[in-house]
Amino acid sequence: MNFLKDALLTPDLLLKNRLVLAPLSPCKANPDGTVNDNILAAYDELSKGGYYSLLILASSYISNSGKAADGQTSVAADHVISGLKKLSDLIHSNGSKAVMQINHAGSAASSQITGEQVIGPSALSNPSKDSDAIPAEMSLNQIRSVIDDFTQAAIRVKKAGFDGVEIHSAHGFLLSQFLSPLTNQRGDGYGGDITGRCRIHCEIVKSVRNAVGNEFPILIRLGASDYMSGGLSLEESVIAAKLLEKTGINLLDISGGMCRFQNPNDSGPGYFSHLSEEIKQAVSIPVLVAGGIHTAEEANQILQRKKADLIGIGRAARQNKEWAKDAL
Ligand SMILES: Cc1cc2nc3c(=O)[nH]c(=O)nc-3n(C[C@H](O)[C@H](O)[C@H](O)COP(=O)(O)O)c2cc1C
Repeated sequence: MNFLKDALLTPDLLLKNRLVLAPLSPCKANPDGTVNDNILAAYDELSKGGYYSLLILASSYISNSGKAADGQTSVAADHVISGLKKLSDLIHSNGSKAVMQINHAGSAASSQITGEQVIGPSALSNPSKDSDAIPAEMSLNQIRSVIDDFTQAAIRVKKAGFDGVEIHSAHGFLLSQFLSPLTNQRGDGYGGDITGRCRIHCEIVKSVRNAVGNEFPILIRLGASDYMSGGLSLEESVIAAKLLEKTGINLLDISGGMCRFQNPNDSGPGYFSHLSEEIKQAVSIPVLVAGGIHTAEEANQILQRKKADLIGIGRAARQNKEWAKDAL
């Protein structure tokens, strides 16, 4: 867990060691999801100089049915590992740590892309999507397969030399759908109150931990509020965060749920930092927040006010490839 310790051992709250590149795909992978030269070049440009303590790479798909978009990177098969290794080597040689984000899109996937039936926790449309298509409710066997696919994907990420793995449970994708009462109305143990709706997460974390060992960091991107009537609330996410910490998550990366990565009520700097602040008070593992942070001053304010331990930079880093260097 060295990079997490490094970040938190910094004696003051200055930005050094606390800047993270938020997951945001710089370009498209090959049609089979393998890494290509364009991806290597784009991450090279973003990581040059090692100014970010950590890069969290954009979401990769754990299985064909969970693929969100054409051009997404795959962690769904062993043949992708060699390309991923080139990517982790490159980021390391530039001086930063690298974590791969792994995802199943659930009802945010489309049959046109996957060629498969779209699945979700319940047969309910997904409010984070434009379409009101109804997914098939997942069977217990399908839930077990998804847990296994996350586990196999995490093993590949570790084999590819990454410093950790981030499980995607935000932005209206499958695990975000399990957390939200708007998309999860299951009558079995994977639905109901927040403990039930967070059960698949805990089972994934346990299974991944078993497979990758105690020293490999497991992060989670937690969509901590839907900002929708009847949707996931911050109060419930605080309970989920504590459960996830207890189950073995090493870092909580706070973002939005069904509202995706924007807060419908606030577009100011650190627009999710009211979520991360409350969650940070409830747990003792590091908390990361991204969203609307454009300047070093804004980032420092969030740190100084103890609203997060680490700061994620997304679009600002894409607009200015030297953003982190300038900020530091
Ligand atoms: C084009 C684009 C792609 C993104 N891809 C991902 C992704 O793969 N995984 C993820 O968790 N967030 C993704 N995000 C959200 C960003 O990580 C980040 O949370 C969001 O852009 C807000 O931070 P910012 O205001 O610093 O950009 C994406 C955002 C954009 C604009």
